[in-house]
Amino acid sequence: MKNVLITGGARGIGKELIEVYYANNYNVFSVVRKQEDAEELNKEFKNNFTPIVTDLTDDKCINIIKNTLSKTVNHLDLLINNAGVPGNAYKIEDVTSIEMKSLFDIHCIAIIRSTQATLDFLKKSKKPKIVNITSRLGSLSAMASGEFEDRNFSYSYRIAKASQNMLSICLKEELKSYNIDVISIHPGKVKTQSGSSDANSSAYESARKIFKWIEGDNINKKGTFTEPYERDWLW
Ligand SMILES: NC(=O)c1ccc[n+]([C@@H]2O[C@H](COP(=O)([O-])OP(=O)(O)OC[C@H]3O[C@@H](n4cnc5c(N)ncnc54)[C@H](OP(=O)(O)O)[C@@H]3O)[C@@H](O)[C@H]2O)c1
Repeated sequence: MKNVLITGGARGIGKELIEVYYANNYNVFSVVRKQEDAEELNKEFKNNFTPIVTDLTDDKCINIIKNTLSKTVNHLDLLINNAGVPGNAYKIEDVTSIEMKSLFDIHCIAIIRSTQATLDFLKKSKKPKIVNITSRLGSLSAMASGEFEDRNFSYSYRIAKASQNMLSICLKEELKSYNIDVISIHPGKVKTQSGSSDANSSAYESARKIFKWIEGDNINKKGTFTEPYERDWLW
């Protein structure tokens, strides 16, 4: 049985990713922040599902994830770093260091923590993958080209996702010696609590496209920063 760990599974795209991987016979682990969300998910997904209650912005999450995995599995096939929060301030006068640090923490440092927690397990998979759910708004090329110039997007989110993209490039380079693929996926403009005002797709649809694309083993055949079946993005 294949094992997947999906972060941010309480709602939105993460919840739909749990559903689609679970329905396709994966053994699913998911990081959620609240005990009540873990209990709700446990009602819905009976066997082969394990919620891990922890906050990815706390270093303690590393051991919590490691300890939970080691109780039942010795390998992990796929880590999906999905957890994230939106930013607010889109004018430089309004930007706060608190918001900047907090978005950098969840979108970038949290992926370092989840990777540290799972690396030993990923190394034992036959075809290990790390999928980072990024955003078109983290594309330096698209932003610099003026593609979004008629829209307002937050400083913290765009900078945090661009940092995450650099982390993905660094991880891909280092982890290729272990045969671990690292891919950045823009999930589309999805109607969730974090979705932008121009959102036009559902979390249901987005998660299924992501699943199909990863399962189709498109990793490395196309770009490494992609919106499945829609577009390859430039870094
Ligand atoms: N929606 C879009 O159009 C869109 C577009 C591009 C990229 N994305 C990216 O896609 C990912 C999922 O977004 P979404 O739209 O599904 O958002 P969402 O509905 O707001 O869900 C985000 C999830 O992440 C969890 N989370 C946040 N901070 C966390 C932390 N410190 N530790 C553990 N879990 C944490 C949240 O937990 P709680 O429930 O406890 O708050 C929530 O379950 C994000 O990385 C987002 O940036 C989304």
